Amino acid sequence: MIPALALYGIEKRFGSTRILRGVDLSVEPGERHALIGPNGAGKSTLFNLIAGGTRPNAGRIDLFGAEITRLAPAAITRRGLARSFQSTSVFARLSVFDNLRCAALLAERKRARWWQRFAGSRTVDARAEQVLDAVGLSVRRDVWAGTLSYAEQRALDLGIALAGGAHTLLLDEPTAGMNRSEAARAIELIREATAGRTLLMIEHDMDAVFAIADRISVLVQGRVIASGAPAAIRADAAVRDAYLGAGFGAGLGT
Ligand SMILES: Nc1ncnc2c1ncn2[C@@H]1O[C@H](COP(=O)(O)OP(=O)(O)O)[C@@H](O)[C@H]1O
Ligand SMILES: [Mg+2]
Repeated sequence: MIPALALYGIEKRFGSTRILRGVDLSVEPGERHALIGPNGAGKSTLFNLIAGGTRPNAGRIDLFGAEITRLAPAAITRRGLARSFQSTSVFARLSVFDNLRCAALLAERKRARWWQRFAGSRTVDARAEQVLDAVGLSVRRDVWAGTLSYAEQRALDLGIALAGGAHTLLLDEPTAGMNRSEAARAIELIREATAGRTLLMIEHDMDAVFAIADRISVLVQGRVIASGAPAAIRADAAVRDAYLGAGFGAGLGT
């Protein structure tokens, strides 16, 4: 099967510092893949490379078998990859529903030929309604997005990516800044709302990781030191060492 996302030998330097040292990573279509690792390991840098925010010094990135390594961020988004939970995509003075409608409309415009646009706003509205429900914001449908709580803004941000038709989602620490119950709810919501799509997620909360991930990759000092099913990662001695060294040992459980 062609992977949804495949990274080959990714190298990234900032000045003379090698941040990523030959990263290989493969995510299957529909898989929920968690990327874990100590602070400063290079996880966010890797996401930025995938999304086109910066370019690697070496290596190749494929999205469903087509190379995207040197494409601009907008071109990568058009191919169905969205980096979410940045909250930059939310229009504060539009209603929650209109934010989703905008995203759905833009996606529709990009795809449709003029003769296909007659279905028009009804398709767009239906899609926005469906996503609104999926991300649990139906009761907040008509309020300004700017008035949402932090957790709700993040749910809306995910909704915007979904309404925009993304098939592959990158989420960088989606539960950061949330308390335990908010985090658990957010993970459940992500799990349900992204069903059938490919998810690559950076997450520190090990409960969240084990609740959602089909596979886990561990990035330490710019290298993937392990990649596999949650049970295998939990049992991996190198992973334990890396985490214990960084003071994360307790999070891996037994
Ligand atoms: N634009 C940049 N210029 C220089 N160094 C950077 C830049 N971005 C990140 N770094 C460095 O790269 C390393 C990895 O950062 P990052 O990818 O944010 O790690 P993580 O997300 O795993 O915590 C850190 O040491 C960070 O200081
Ligand atoms: Mg980071």
